[in-house]
Amino acid sequence: MNLNLESMFSVRDKTLLFTGGGGILASHIARALGEGGAKVILTDIVPLDALVEEFRREGIMVEGYTMNVLQRDNVEEVVSKVLEKFGRIDALLNAAGGNVREAITSPEVSFFDLPVEALERVVDLNLFGGAIIPSQVVARYMIRQEEGGSIINFSSMAALRPLTRVVGYSAAKAAVSNFTQWLAVYIAREFTPKVRVNALAPGFFVTKQNYALLYREDGTLTPRGEAVLAHTPCGRFGVPEDLVSTVLWLLSPASSFVTGVVVPVDGGFNAFSGV
Ligand SMILES: NC(=O)c1ccc[n+]([C@@H]2O[C@H](COP(=O)([O-])OP(=O)(O)OC[C@H]3O[C@@H](n4cnc5c(N)ncnc54)[C@H](O)[C@@H]3O)[C@@H](O)[C@H]2O)c1
Repeated sequence: MNLNLESMFSVRDKTLLFTGGGGILASHIARALGEGGAKVILTDIVPLDALVEEFRREGIMVEGYTMNVLQRDNVEEVVSKVLEKFGRIDALLNAAGGNVREAITSPEVSFFDLPVEALERVVDLNLFGGAIIPSQVVARYMIRQEEGGSIINFSSMAALRPLTRVVGYSAAKAAVSNFTQWLAVYIAREFTPKVRVNALAPGFFVTKQNYALLYREDGTLTPRGEAVLAHTPCGRFGVPEDLVSTVLWLLSPASSFVTGVVVPVDGGFNAFSGV
């Protein structure tokens, strides 16, 4: 056996397209993979100029595009531009997504009064924009590439263990995990096993979306924050860097026999019954 571990885990010169590329998790992952020699394409609805500038200063090959994942025409347009410039897309990282405040239950608003429109919005963002639409557009090109490609969806611990209060997000992420398996099987059987589809299920990473749920204004943990840590055997919240090695594995030739999996990166949260 003569395995070259370095080339097995390499993303050098690979073209990686991130949706939600301006977000916390995607931007950290993109920076790490860019430092490893990947060409990084960031797309988002928020301005990316400052981030792109920062990456360039660090010597990372990067381009930024405004792209709304909920608008298929817009996704088609940006993907065409990327293909024109780079000739290929080796990986699609579907990191656009997030919660919708109005789709969360509270002491004031029970599940029975949640606006259906808010529930639709959170499913739209995470399932359609966060996984289905960009996969439809990009995978069509990937299946024609000799070397294939890799799609990584961003599911959540909420998909595996529905979290109290966040009903719409939990349902949407469960659908993302299910779609990941469906698309993996569809592409491998109908087209090519060289295009693989997997997902991450991050545990609790402190970001601007969930900060107020986990911390009080004075910086101490909320009861929810305390409950999360008490159920996380590793005893801490995740940091974006914790996701990099799993993403690298799922993108690289090292995982060529891995498709249709949802990998928890959660400090053991999913394994722990609480007893
Ligand atoms: N942070 C966590 O603890 C955690 C845990 C599990 C899963 N996730 C998932 O990981 C992904 C990234 O999360 P994050 O914490 O980095 O969040 P984030 O809010 O920092 O990043 C999400 C990005 O998506 C972008 N976005 C929103 N709507 C969009 C649209 N219509 N089109 C294009 N881009 C759009 C936002 O502008 C933002 O930059 C999300 O899918 C999130 O649900 C996060």
